[in-house]
Order: sequence, then C-alpha cells, then structure tokens
Amino acid sequence: MNYKIVDNDQTPLPGNVIDKYLDRRDPSHPEHNKVNYNANYKGYKGVVWTPLDLPYLDLNLDHLWTVWQNVLGNKYDGLAQPWFDKRPDDMNSSRHSTYNDHDYRALILFKNGDYYADVKGEWFDFVKDEFPEVVDFVEALPFDNVRWIAFVGRDEHGVGPHYDEWDGARKVLVDQDPSQLRVRWSRVTDWKDEHFYLTKNHGQTRIYPQLPPATNSMAYDGTVHEHGADKGFHPKDRIQLMPMGTLNIPKWHELLDRSIEKYKDFVITVDHFK
Ligand SMILES: [Fe+2]
Repeated sequence: MNYKIVDNDQTPLPGNVIDKYLDRRDPSHPEHNKVNYNANYKGYKGVVWTPLDLPYLDLNLDHLWTVWQNVLGNKYDGLAQPWFDKRPDDMNSSRHSTYNDHDYRALILFKNGDYYADVKGEWFDFVKDEFPEVVDFVEALPFDNVRWIAFVGRDEHGVGPHYDEWDGARKVLVDQDPSQLRVRWSRVTDWKDEHFYLTKNHGQTRIYPQLPPATNSMAYDGTVHEHGADKGFHPKDRIQLMPMGTLNIPKWHELLDRSIEKYKDFVITVDHFK
C-alpha cells in the first residue's frame, strides 16, 4: 500500500489537539462555514493528491539558506521573514484561521506578488541570479498566471488540517482542483514515511501519501479535503516551493493525465476517503 491511513484514536495529532478541529462541526463555530467537507469534490478524475510527471527540480538547500539570510540582511533586494528563533513573536497565522499555530516562514520570490489579488508576478532579481533553474521551471508550469510564490518552511511544530488559499479565493479553484501545486525538497525525511496528510474529517482519519523520489512535484485538493503536517523543519533540511495562481485547465489536465498514469500506484482519490 503506497500510503498510510491513520486513525486519530490510535495515533493522535501532535499535541493532542484534535478537539479544536472537531469543534468546527458546531454551526456556531467561527470556522464552521470555512470547512467544505460536505461539498461535492469536483477535482479532475477524483484526484485528491498526486505526484506530478515533471522533471526533478534540483535545489541546494544550503545555498537557499545563504540567499535567505542575504535577503534578510538586505544584501539583496527582496522579502524574507526571519526564521522562528529570530522572531518568535511574529507568528504569521494562517490565512483563513483563527488559530495561531499555523505559522510558517517565507522567502518571497516576486517583488509585486499578491496573495489576495490576481497580479502578474515579477521575479526579484536575486531569484533570477541565484535560482535560474527555479525560474525556468516555474515559467514552464501550466499556469495562465502566477500571482505569488515563495519558498515556505515551518518550525518543528506541525500544522493542523487547513486549506492554503483564503476562503474568498477558494471557489475559483474548484474547476482547477487538484489546484495546489507544490515542489518539495527534503534531506531528512523518508518518502515512505511521510508526515504530510490529507483529511476529510478534521484530522480524525488521515491519509499520508508517498511522493516517490523520481519527482518532487505534487498537486492536492485546495477546496474540500484539508491537509496538514505532523512536523516542521529548518529550510536547510526540508522546504517547499509554493506557487499560487491560475492554472490553464487544458494544459493542467494534460499534465494530470500523464501524472496519474505514470504514478497510478501513488495517486490518492476520493475513493480512498470512503
Ligand atoms: Fe498548507
């Protein structure tokens, strides 16, 4: 079986915090209307998560961290958040959540990027200079437009079930689903023992997919099933590239078709949640 399915009664969420997610079932809860488990998932061919048939994108994580520090130190024109040990007060809570433990840190790659508006993102010069292969890779992705992009990492605490896009943007993702395209690097985790999970019941049942090492790109549902992670890591150990934008549906479906054929043993669909 190329995924792990975990019941919270056997393996509780880190910190034993399931109740605050389950509490959202109550209609008076402020998050209640932001969880869409009852919606009919319209993701392409029922795919909730899949590896993508894209070439493996290399990235030297030591170099990434050096550049991150250089941006922080204003050696380059850019936008970087200090890592957790430098600014523990700056929690940068998740877009749609009232909780304050969804925090992550970002090295922002667009000078005009906008999380909430459909701008056409323009690269900071340091990205073109230091990570030209990342620029080429992203520009070849099947997006009509990328409005925001960053390397994102999380401190050692994990993150509970959530969607990445704020709720106002989610309805436009329905036809693009699985709409969340990510690239991940890790030199500390075992791909067969992943801590990233998907859930449709507030974390009570969690499916942990496997991203085989031939690719480091994946896509997942952005509107119905939530996702989370049991752990976080320093950028030198594990990091994600997070492009947010509008996918070109015909090109996206072409890539998805190729991907779910090539990685059919790893794809997670709605049937896994039945
Ligand atoms: Fe996320």
